[in-house]
Amino acid sequence: MSTQEFLETYWSKSPRYFGGEPTRFQDLLPWGRLGQILQENRLDYPRMRLSKKGKDIPQETYLKYETTRRGTRIPQISLSDLNAHLNDGCLLVVDAIDEMSPSIRMLCEKCEFVLGEHIQVNAYAGWKKTQGFSTHWDDHDVIIVQVHGEKAWRIFQPTRDFPMYLDVENPPPPLAQPVWCGTIKAGDVLYIPRGWWHDATPTGKPTLHLTFGITNRTGMDFMAWFCERLRTNPLFRKDLSRFSSCEAQENHLSLLKQAAFNELNILRTRHFFNDYDARAKPRVRPSLPWIVLQSEAKFDGHEIVEWVPPRRLRIDRDDVSLYFHALGKSWEFSLKADAMLDALEKHRRLPVMALFGKGMEVGLENAQVSAFLIELLNNGLINVYDAI
Ligand SMILES: [Fe+2]
Repeated sequence: MSTQEFLETYWSKSPRYFGGEPTRFQDLLPWGRLGQILQENRLDYPRMRLSKKGKDIPQETYLKYETTRRGTRIPQISLSDLNAHLNDGCLLVVDAIDEMSPSIRMLCEKCEFVLGEHIQVNAYAGWKKTQGFSTHWDDHDVIIVQVHGEKAWRIFQPTRDFPMYLDVENPPPPLAQPVWCGTIKAGDVLYIPRGWWHDATPTGKPTLHLTFGITNRTGMDFMAWFCERLRTNPLFRKDLSRFSSCEAQENHLSLLKQAAFNELNILRTRHFFNDYDARAKPRVRPSLPWIVLQSEAKFDGHEIVEWVPPRRLRIDRDDVSLYFHALGKSWEFSLKADAMLDALEKHRRLPVMALFGKGMEVGLENAQVSAFLIELLNNGLINVYDAI
């Protein structure tokens, strides 16, 4: 199934299971790497937590807090307590593991580029047959990637259409039978849209899965954006009169309704998404030691350049310049930059040497390309780091 077919047929509509080769995700998060993440980061509750039968275990029972002589409180895992809890059937959860694993972050960024939303990846590891979470629904879409082992899943129909995190009422629990039951094995993927009830039970063998959580834009986001735009019109900034006659109040309201309708009528969904994408925040990665380079600095060509804007660019061109919006700003470049920007956006990470080649095609010396890259770096459009 192509990405386009999946997005048109299933995205935001219905769950979908995809089988895969058992080994295809094993390098994404080897068991040893998960242990290393726990060792190298001072993870505190709730970033790291233990859950059992739908409840979080009190963190004091596996995290000890040491206070340094300068008063800083440091969480430390009590290994014997952690082992005891995991032996007792607890589920180990690590939130936002994409921020601690380069391989997961890179996959995450590729997905973000296609889906147009920030994605957070959480890791879930279990050893026994106990359920970590009871049957629940999530307020965002999830893509479940089974890395090691297996888990038995059940999915139920939503009991409220498109329930939200901030909603006026909660969906009632499902009474009907599940619409899908199955065992997700290593290499398999399961997509569950927002609002579909589900639960997962380990089968007694070590299991590790990742969930890619995606919060899609809704009509509420569109209307909030639309209302913000109304601030440009003085009619909406003006006080509503509490003390004028009924007729004067009605006249004012009629003007507001008409002006809002006129504004709404010219808006298209793409206007909202173009603006939303142009404001998308990138993942922070300081370019060390390059961050303080001056414009006369030169690259030797082996450095790696990373394109920062997280969304697809919409580039306009005239006879001399190209224009786009990204990172909340408007950008203008000479048309000579076109091929370099195209390569940066397409590959996202590439050696400076490749950009020297693109520059040469339009008559730019390596020193000019270096100066251009320093300008991009100083403006936050690229990261630069040494090849490893
Ligand atoms: Fe869930």
